[in-house]
Amino acid sequence: MGHFKFTSRQKHSIPVTVLQITDYFNWFDQQAEHHQNWLTSSGFQAAPGSTAQLADEKGRVQRLILILPRSDDEWPVQSLPFSLAENGCYELDLDSRDPQYFRTALSWGMTAYCFDRYKKATRKPADLQVEDDALREALTIALEAIQLTRDLVNTPAEDLSPEGLERCWRSLAEQHHAECHVIEGEALIAERFPAIYAVGRASEVAPRLLELNWGDLQHPKLTLVGKGVCFDTGGLDLKPPGPMRNMKKDMGGAAHVMGLAQMIMRSGLPVRLKVLVPAVENSIGSRAYRPGDVINTRRGLTVEIGNTDAEGRLVLADALSYACEESPELIIDFATLTGAARIALGADLPAVFCNSDREFEALYRASQSVYDPLWRMPLHAGYRSMLASNIADLSNIGNSSFAGSITAALFLNEFVDKEIPWIHIDVFAWNERSLPSRPKGGEAFALRAVFEYIKKRFPRN
Ligand code: BES
Ligand code: ZN
Ligand code: ZN
Repeated sequence: MGHFKFTSRQKHSIPVTVLQITDYFNWFDQQAEHHQNWLTSSGFQAAPGSTAQLADEKGRVQRLILILPRSDDEWPVQSLPFSLAENGCYELDLDSRDPQYFRTALSWGMTAYCFDRYKKATRKPADLQVEDDALREALTIALEAIQLTRDLVNTPAEDLSPEGLERCWRSLAEQHHAECHVIEGEALIAERFPAIYAVGRASEVAPRLLELNWGDLQHPKLTLVGKGVCFDTGGLDLKPPGPMRNMKKDMGGAAHVMGLAQMIMRSGLPVRLKVLVPAVENSIGSRAYRPGDVINTRRGLTVEIGNTDAEGRLVLADALSYACEESPELIIDFATLTGAARIALGADLPAVFCNSDREFEALYRASQSVYDPLWRMPLHAGYRSMLASNIADLSNIGNSSFAGSITAALFLNEFVDKEIPWIHIDVFAWNERSLPSRPKGGEAFALRAVFEYIKKRFPRN
């Protein structure tokens, strides 16, 4: 069936009145008597998220009403695209410049998502028409990035190994005429990515570093880095069944930077974009790296392995070091890095670490302006000593069960040049249960926030 798409001008569409709850009674008073009677006698309750269909004298649906949630932290569309008539086509009765237009339409598109690679969808979602071409394009760019990120996260590790991810990578690069470069297997040693190699070497499918370059060489350099652990067994420090169950999503960081790169390239932002993904499987085997091993890194710092399940920071260490070598103007990484970030902020709020107050403030403003939440966590230098090792420069785990997401971020910080602004986003990439506009399964977080920030940070002349 493929993905939901916004419809352009073509069909008869049913208008959707979008109301703030506080405006409902005013609106009600202005309606025709038979509509008022219908709403009252059918027991319609005006509450955030509630909807009603109004019919004309012949009983045909004439208008839909949708009441917005009280807070901008909640999505307006719950199940509508799958509860309205399958062949229906709707259109928001709002000024296209009203920010609620974009938000409600995107919410519709996010709800209409269905991962149908292995199971046929039972029905098609109702259409939403967006007449304004520029608005439809902006909505499509955002929605397709979310769809790509969700699809990649939802795809099982068997079908999205480092090799499978490389295939998706090449197709993304091709679509946007970007240049693609891959370093695979033993070549990682020769090209000095020892940590990526160490984590991925036990897997049947060779580890690799995926690189994509796009844009005008004259433009400011922006580098995105994503954790691409295609499956995280925990390694020899094996995860128990519960925590391992969803570890196909451990390439969620890669899925996010691919979605974001697609947005940037499609919008033609004036940046010189580099995207890096270390793609590995953290597997068990006779070649697996072990607790107590000391591994080398691209930067030359040695790392004692306290736990083979803290693999994400190792592969990111080499990718971040490499990113710094060409002194970009900004580095942003996404990673499903720690369970601790979820303990601190829950699944829906990405934990953001940043070495520059100015950059974080700009990111936060952007996040607020597009209703895409995130929260800052500290790179508290006082906890750096938790990463000390007796026999190496660093340990890959903190020596305490506290502040796990912070020690992980501090570990990464060791591989980033101080003067390069860097943003690290620890995401969950998953909805544990279905919420409005957020179906259970793979999910994109902070994608629109970061895109908006980048758009403002690198303006067109
Ligand atoms: N991929 C996990 C982190 C994770 C777990 C993200 C669950 C989202 C949900 C990561 O590789 C990991 O296992 N981290 C360990 C680190 C620990 C061994 C220091 C963790 O968070 O428990
Ligand atoms: Zn792990
Ligand atoms: Zn992991």
